[in-house]
Amino acid sequence: MEKMWAGRFEKKSEKIADDFNSSIRFDKKMYKEDIRGSLAHATMLMKTGILTEDDYQKIVDGLGGILSDLNGGALCFDENAEDIHMFIESELTKRIGDAGKRLHTARSRNDQVAVDLRLYMREQTEEVIALLKSLIRVTLEKAKENTQTIMPGYTHLQRAQPITFAQHLLAYCMMLLRDVGRLQDALKRMNYSPLGSCALAGTTYPIDRDMTAKALGFDGVCMNSVDGVSDRDYCVELESAFALVMTHLSRFSEEIILWSSWEFKFVELDDSYTTGSSIMPQKKNPDMAELVRGKTGRVYGDLMGTLTVLKGIPLAYNKDMQEDKEAVFDSVETVKLCLGIFIPMIETMTPLKENMYAAAKKGFINATDLADYLTKKGMPFRSAYKTVGEIVGYCIKKGITLDEMSIEEYKSRSELFEADLYGEISLETCVGKRISKGSTGYQSVAEQIAYVEECLQ
Ligand code: ARG
Repeated sequence: MEKMWAGRFEKKSEKIADDFNSSIRFDKKMYKEDIRGSLAHATMLMKTGILTEDDYQKIVDGLGGILSDLNGGALCFDENAEDIHMFIESELTKRIGDAGKRLHTARSRNDQVAVDLRLYMREQTEEVIALLKSLIRVTLEKAKENTQTIMPGYTHLQRAQPITFAQHLLAYCMMLLRDVGRLQDALKRMNYSPLGSCALAGTTYPIDRDMTAKALGFDGVCMNSVDGVSDRDYCVELESAFALVMTHLSRFSEEIILWSSWEFKFVELDDSYTTGSSIMPQKKNPDMAELVRGKTGRVYGDLMGTLTVLKGIPLAYNKDMQEDKEAVFDSVETVKLCLGIFIPMIETMTPLKENMYAAAKKGFINATDLADYLTKKGMPFRSAYKTVGEIVGYCIKKGITLDEMSIEEYKSRSELFEADLYGEISLETCVGKRISKGSTGYQSVAEQIAYVEECLQ
């Protein structure tokens, strides 16, 4: 195929150079956006009198035909084309002749690729937001079913204080809600049209950039043409928001992996989201969660890659920027893949409530509440803390829990202890008496559930 830019050259480029340069392998994903952008551009050219109605009609019909042929498979991408923009333009010219050659008036591939990528990533990001909301919804459902399920809350992976499983799951809802917010925020900032920036300096044609921006659903135009073709901030912003989504999924995965182990046995994953071992017949492995944890690395890598590509390039467009797409596509596809598996995995996961409760019974996780009991009776907190510390040490030696120690033994350590202490340190009381906002207390959990539901409206 003769290159569109062949005029200036005496020699043909080498095949190896063409292959190296070509991006159609991955930018073909944006064919719909490329055609959409071209249609908006052609309409504007016609309305501003730059293109005749006759040529315009041919372009509309030609692009419409290409779109349906690509959708239906009647037309295949030419892997030898330089990129998706060149492929569609040359196919158009093949079909409609000279009118096809007029489409690129007052436009460059630099603003063309910039607009295609924004349109593409805008839609992809909306899909991620919808998936995040589904994950929040199924996590919230599990939380609602477990407002009375008591489990140990941990710090340093040591049993710390009793909480409900609902409280633990709601923490993930909050994290994922922030992810939604971050993506919505990035969408707002990126939703400006670079179309009409042309190669870098704008154009001498009387184009109407606001018209194309509006037609393509942008909130306005990029204010500076050099910035319009050079800006890939939105790729970095999205990749970093996706990296954080993966951080959250990875932490959740790590817990699910731990909880599925015989050492914890807090949850049972559904058979359909686990795998067996080729040699050990007893195994039921949480592969999905492990893979999500593993794939987090590549999403971090995509972010780092894009940042590094951008850091050294001068204004305006440089070919380095072609490297943006594989990274940002990989990043969004990985996130979608992981969310897609996480949603049903959480939905079908069974909490093993008795095991959680039994684990909460051990480990002296009501020790803070015992100290609070003494403090409320007038002992300074630090003294109460010391007294309870000694009691815990004594119980560990004797192999008993706090509620198994007799009232006589308690009284021998402080006269403030009375029989009501047993009620005060029951796990149900420890949870139920947490009245501060955001706490694991029942009222607070109900408020959190209502909050998440409202955010999902
Ligand atoms: N394939 C190119 C990219 O992805 C399109 C823009 C090419 N522009 C240019 N001046 N060579 O960045």
